[in-house]
Amino acid sequence: MKNNRIGIGIIGCGWIAEKAHISSFLKIDDVYIAAVCDNDVQTINKFKEKFQVKNYYNNPEHLINDDNVNAIVISTPNSTHYTLSEKALLAGKHVLCEKPIAFSSAEVDNLIRILKKTNTIFLPAFVNRFRNDVQCVKDILDKNLIGEIISINAQWIRRAGVPRPGSWFTQKDKAGGGVLMDLGPHIIDIILMYIKFEKLNSAQLYCKYDYDKYPQLNANWYSDNSRDVIFPDVESSVIAELNLNNDLIAKIEVSWLSDIKNDMTFFIINGENGSIEMKTLFGFSTNRLWSVDEVLVKNSTGEIIKKVEFDITRNESIHAFERMAHFFISSIRGNKISALNYIDAYNTTLLIEELYKHQKK
Ligand SMILES: NC(=O)c1ccc[n+]([C@@H]2O[C@H](COP(=O)([O-])OP(=O)(O)OC[C@H]3O[C@@H](n4cnc5c(N)ncnc54)[C@H](O)[C@@H]3O)[C@@H](O)[C@H]2O)c1
Repeated sequence: MKNNRIGIGIIGCGWIAEKAHISSFLKIDDVYIAAVCDNDVQTINKFKEKFQVKNYYNNPEHLINDDNVNAIVISTPNSTHYTLSEKALLAGKHVLCEKPIAFSSAEVDNLIRILKKTNTIFLPAFVNRFRNDVQCVKDILDKNLIGEIISINAQWIRRAGVPRPGSWFTQKDKAGGGVLMDLGPHIIDIILMYIKFEKLNSAQLYCKYDYDKYPQLNANWYSDNSRDVIFPDVESSVIAELNLNNDLIAKIEVSWLSDIKNDMTFFIINGENGSIEMKTLFGFSTNRLWSVDEVLVKNSTGEIIKKVEFDITRNESIHAFERMAHFFISSIRGNKISALNYIDAYNTTLLIEELYKHQKK
């Protein structure tokens, strides 16, 4: 780090790098984009012109070995996350890795061993933790307003929200799975944050492959809507049940395609003395089911005892990326922050791995 300036390298200059990562880092003092890398020449040319980056590569190893790069954002297709993280950490670089971090908990375990040896920061990009509504629920739980948690229902459901059907996103070898690999890590990470995960007792997974049922598959926020290069071989919807800690039941529904009128994210957390509901929408869809985002706290008789509304025009998803980038830089600069780290990547990967092992045929 020259004069405390942090040079960021970005590997994978696709949709999320351009939409959220690069602008988030450019807003931070004494942080600059030192280099970018993409294995697609056209993408790299477009990116370097738009953001005037000095060093650009089409081989990730060259970026990893660039001395100007102190910290690396990995925003490539899922199947490359583990190998690229491993190489970057071994080279002593800090890493912010997009989800899913890896396809197996053993891989995350190996990353943890490396980062401990190399004294590097590894942050999983569980960006929804940095949302104000998600943090509001956490504050309410920390104040013990509903007592011990008994169960959680969590849903992130889209009407037509397959990320580029036919692309790597819908091919098992490149994505590792379907909607559970895509939206699942965010939802599971938040559940684990709320309950303070100790152990998994059992897991069940039901999957649907509903691509033929719906005339429109693609997510409206992607401009590249070319349908079906290769027909998807991954699940489009799942219902999952996890029995955690001391018999706490977490029910999860994530879907790219459903009969819902519009898109929504919904959490209900039932405690001994009441419940918390969060109505919101994660991600970048503009087809919202709720016209108001809110967190409601109810007592055991169902009476509302607290209500917090959130401004849906604020573009909370982008702000969450900015907060995550700040958090990453603060962690690198050694400020004491413990909210999110590699253990969360391990636990989330472990639960997804267990769910796929327990898929009902
Ligand atoms: N946290 C979020 O909210 C969020 C949102 C969208 C995407 N994502 C994640 O970000 C990642 C990227 O998604 P995207 O939508 O930007 O995909 P994308 O396909 O638009 O971008 C990926 C880029 O990586 C490049 N690439 C592929 N293999 C490479 C390699 N080995 N070396 C260098 N470059 C390589 C591709 O050419 C492409 O430009 C995915 O893992 C996805 O799950 C996260």
